[in-house]
Amino acid sequence: MRVVSANLFALLLLCALASVFYVWSPLETRLERHKRRLSAPGGGAFHQGLAEDLSAKTFRALLAVPAAQRPHLGGRLESPNLTHQIVSAGSRDYHMNGDNKRSTQREGPVKLGSPVEDGVFWGEWLEDLRHEGFTEEYARGWRERARTHRVVKLEPGCGRRSNQLATFADGTKACVRYGINADQVQGETLTYYLASLLGITNLPPLVLSQLSGDSEQWAAVRTRVDALQWSDRAVVSLTEWVSNLTGVVTPAPLRQESSGLHPVLEQLGNKTTPELLELMQWSDLILFDYLTANFDRLVSNLFSLQWDSRVMERDTNNLLKTPRGDLVFIDNEAGLVHGFRVLNMWEKYHSTVLSSVCVFRRRTTERVAELHRRRDSRKRLLELYRDSEPLSVELGFLSDEHAGVLQDRIDRLHKHILHCRGKYSQL
Ligand SMILES: Nc1ncnc2c1ncn2[C@@H]1O[C@H](COP(=O)(O)OP(=O)(O)O)[C@@H](O)[C@H]1O
Ligand SMILES: [Mg+2]
Repeated sequence: MRVVSANLFALLLLCALASVFYVWSPLETRLERHKRRLSAPGGGAFHQGLAEDLSAKTFRALLAVPAAQRPHLGGRLESPNLTHQIVSAGSRDYHMNGDNKRSTQREGPVKLGSPVEDGVFWGEWLEDLRHEGFTEEYARGWRERARTHRVVKLEPGCGRRSNQLATFADGTKACVRYGINADQVQGETLTYYLASLLGITNLPPLVLSQLSGDSEQWAAVRTRVDALQWSDRAVVSLTEWVSNLTGVVTPAPLRQESSGLHPVLEQLGNKTTPELLELMQWSDLILFDYLTANFDRLVSNLFSLQWDSRVMERDTNNLLKTPRGDLVFIDNEAGLVHGFRVLNMWEKYHSTVLSSVCVFRRRTTERVAELHRRRDSRKRLLELYRDSEPLSVELGFLSDEHAGVLQDRIDRLHKHILHCRGKYSQL
């Protein structure tokens, strides 16, 4: 009898321990993830194994804005008495390459037009003041050089260990990303070319390279490549390393407590020119991350609000800024491929964020409208990728299913833009 009781007791103890372990493990994983995000801003490999159930309610509640708080049409910026308002600039230090006049306009208090025109588009004067970012021509030149230059050094400096900071023989640098699986390099690369199709120039130029044993390009760092245990013949991506980048905090209109980014006076009328220029880039970022279903930027920050109420006061994941205010969208490996694979988990957040933006860059909406009208996003992306990247065949392209998802997102985005135009365009 005593033996039976002792066994029963041992069994009960075992069950109790197992339950504690069952509850603790996922909790610990989540805490660990959270810790990593805090210790390495921008370095959040946050996406795997996210608990599906955890999110919906809290996030919705956080983003939901009572109808009464939403700005009304009466406050539109395009009302006649507001054109040619004075928009004064902030004191932030925005450097310019040449072009002093535009630089002064960006920084000083100048009499400028309305931030928004034709209802939902950023004003042309803002477009004129915008820096061009990594233009197609610039990117082509960089890619040509990056394909041929020898890598002379590989060291930490680009985030997690599977990324390395490479120095080329001419002293310029690139971030090398060795994807843990092909999805990541594919996502990074195709996202880059989609940005190019859309005319979004905030992504540093990218090329692919193969780590084959006989490769001239990698010969000088062969020992380091071996030490990193990068497999032979793996295809890695190289993106231009940009100096002097700093973190970016999500601007107020796009934070959870705000109603979103709308073409209304209450919101944009008192913004400085640099602030408007940054918001303009954010509007592209939101559209772009929606299309690519990239959850590893604003969406993941919003998600983290559940256990980190001050997350929005910290830098946004995978987003950096040059001293002159150009946003740089880095680490796009969650886009398109992985993002589409886990869409069920994140779609409600993507939609919520998209629906919070109703001001757009005209050119971006034109490109979206064209891809919607012609329904040829797969064809155009594939052509551009194949024509620009010799290793495209090696790395592969979107599956038919994912190409369909992309076209579907373009169509939805177009519909959202039409909705905003309908809402804000008629005076
Ligand atoms: N193109 C770049 N130019 C300059 N710094 C970069 C670049 N890409 C990454 N970094 C630096 O590396 C950090 C981590 O980059 P990221 O690509 O997000 O890595 P991870 O894959 O670890 O998230 C960034 O916050 C930034 O400091
Ligand atoms: Mg990152």
